[in-house]
Amino acid sequence: MTGSLTSVLNNLQIQLESIIVGQKSLLERLVIATLAGGHVLLEGPPGLAKTTAVHALAAGVDADYHRIQFTPDLMPSDLTGSEIYQPENGRFTFNPGPVFNQIVLADELNRAPPKVQSALLEAMAEQQVSVGNHSHTLPEFFMVLATQNPLEQFGTYPLPEALLDRFLFKCLMDYPEIEEEIEISRRARQDDKGHLEAAVVAQMKPEDILALRKQVNEVHVEPGIESYAVRLVAATRNLENHHQSWAGLVKTGASPRGSIALLRAAMSRALFHQRDYVIPEDIIELAGDVLRHRMILDFSAEAEGVSADDMIQHLLNVIEAP
Ligand SMILES: Nc1ncnc2c1ncn2[C@@H]1O[C@H](COP(=O)(O)OP(=O)(O)O)[C@@H](O)[C@H]1O
Ligand SMILES: [Mg+2]
Repeated sequence: MTGSLTSVLNNLQIQLESIIVGQKSLLERLVIATLAGGHVLLEGPPGLAKTTAVHALAAGVDADYHRIQFTPDLMPSDLTGSEIYQPENGRFTFNPGPVFNQIVLADELNRAPPKVQSALLEAMAEQQVSVGNHSHTLPEFFMVLATQNPLEQFGTYPLPEALLDRFLFKCLMDYPEIEEEIEISRRARQDDKGHLEAAVVAQMKPEDILALRKQVNEVHVEPGIESYAVRLVAATRNLENHHQSWAGLVKTGASPRGSIALLRAAMSRALFHQRDYVIPEDIIELAGDVLRHRMILDFSAEAEGVSADDMIQHLLNVIEAP
């Protein structure tokens, strides 16, 4: 692998860390997802620098960026754009919407009704949008970062399985430590306009990311590691074989798309850490973020106080790594 590209990745991480206090694993996940060509769902309460982090990432890779605030009255065309009638020649021309950007922040995605969520699903799954009778192709570098607030239930539309499955990672964000929060307020005081991310210097072009993705494809995965990843994912579908009293707690486990995602993410993490081979730690580190949203739990799981994260942790404990 060329030294320059990996040092560029390192510089990108340093730039992001100069803006965001703490949240190191989140920043790493954002860069890994960029390398993997994946979309990311960020879950956490407001005020934890989700918008700031995504904006900083877009600035760091010099990508066109747009933030879309999802609301109950949003229409699919507010996302995709629409055909506009031209009275001069009697034709329709397409006026592209905000989804035609390289990095799209879908803020509070679960506040938009299902039709709007489906339009975003098509964009994420097919890299195109359909308007009227035409489909329009999205940019080659296209990444959706969506947020949702776990505490907000009223007037929200839970994301359907098919949409969840399209996110490479679902990252859970938590409040900063006291020391970190002191540093956050210090930085905010120095920053008079409250736009810290404006200070980010672009470290690369979107085309460089596309070149790095080719390098991700070259990362070597040993058969033992491949099988470890797939056994972990498959175990989410037959949890009772690994924990008898948890039988029936999972309605649907992760699909093969989960295996593909876990391996792809692990290869990207390897490249991020300047390796051309995957190690078990890549799989172990990423399993939670790749799998938690792909497991649909029965209500009895909540009643028993067992979360998807507990289940994944248990599988990591009992399924032996190579
Ligand atoms: N970890 C952090 N590092 C730097 N700034 C932070 C951090 N957490 C919160 N902030 C600051 O708090 C404010 C809220 O951030 P914002 O990105 O709008 O949050 P969110 O999108 O999660 O609601 C911003 O001024 C941001 O700079
Ligand atoms: Mg925000």
